[in-house]
Amino acid sequence: MGEINFFPEDLEIKDLKIILRLDLNVPIKNKIITDDTRITLCLPFINRLIEKEAKIIIISHLGRPKGINIPELSLIPIYKYLKDVLKTNVYFFRGSFDNETNEKFSHLKRGEVILIENIRFFKEETDDDQDFAKKLGSLGDIYINDAFSCSHRKQASIHNITKFIKKSYAGPLLKKEITAINFVIKNKKEPVTCIIGGSKISTKINVIFSLIKKVNNLIIVGAMANNFFVYKNFKIGKSLIEGDTNKIIKDIYKKAELNNCEIFIPEDCMVGTDFDGNGKNKNLDEILDNEIILDIGCNTIKNIQKKISESNTVLWNGPAGYFENKNFSRGTTSIAENISKYTIERSLISVLGGGDTLAAVNKINNKLSFSHLSTAGGAFLEYLEGKDLPGISVLK
Ligand code: 3PG
Repeated sequence: MGEINFFPEDLEIKDLKIILRLDLNVPIKNKIITDDTRITLCLPFINRLIEKEAKIIIISHLGRPKGINIPELSLIPIYKYLKDVLKTNVYFFRGSFDNETNEKFSHLKRGEVILIENIRFFKEETDDDQDFAKKLGSLGDIYINDAFSCSHRKQASIHNITKFIKKSYAGPLLKKEITAINFVIKNKKEPVTCIIGGSKISTKINVIFSLIKKVNNLIIVGAMANNFFVYKNFKIGKSLIEGDTNKIIKDIYKKAELNNCEIFIPEDCMVGTDFDGNGKNKNLDEILDNEIILDIGCNTIKNIQKKISESNTVLWNGPAGYFENKNFSRGTTSIAENISKYTIERSLISVLGGGDTLAAVNKINNKLSFSHLSTAGGAFLEYLEGKDLPGISVLK
């Protein structure tokens, strides 16, 4: 497989219509963007394209609307944000894609921007539909994927679109992400510890299996750990749990043993009776039927601190708890602060990834340092796993 076609900074793009696939999938509550990191990271490149007098057509998704127009998942808050910060005319497009769409875009002048409404409002996007991809491709002269975090998705605006446009490139953010992750893969020093949070084992199972072969310690936190508690016959009250995962977990332990990878799960946790309330530290055998596990407990925090202090490389994806409520943010904050401390003090190689992890780290007031903070969650893990990401393969 060839080299990735990176966007050449000196390319003459004046007057050209550039389709720019970004990941503007940011957390939004009551129409307010609660963490704008993903957007701010995209701004320098958008501004460069504006300066170079290209006509910029931005595509992004927000959430997983499954082909349905869900008002809460509209990109309008992001459109307003871009309108505020970009010093040019910014338009919003929410029509369908047909033969007249090109005409609707013809008013776009040099250096102007048009943002297309949530592309996942079209079922054809997630189906990687050829006709849809062709319509999208026909809107521009050049395609640039600057959404590393979406590049593990075989979807029309990431994958098939490249078949229907003259030239496709990887943007500078994508380049930065893969350069940093490649560096870690090449230079990682043992012991390597991987901390995985989030809720669904089934979506991360392949990644977990493959990481077991590459890391010395695997620490499971977040709602994902609940499945391990059930496997070990603990009661978890009203905590989030995924179907029947006992077989998967049995296989994980078996594979870990074969590969000398140690698996750590929390030994205590913070529970609450609702997401917005206070927390209580409990051992795993003390959880009541009406309680929800919302963070890791004090002993677990200490154990994880120790593991981080003994590691030379740490990879982390997924918060340890419901960090949105400060009563349940201690686990996540402590993991972030410890990784940062050792990155600064003794050059620990540290890579963090994922939208939630990013949002959690940004909520912490102290200034933190990591070798690389990736905007990507699933894509970051799959890339680490050594998989060929469909959105990147098509740029080679
Ligand atoms: C992410 O948040 O990781 C990306 O935006 C991809 O989102 P997805 O998992 O819904 O494809």
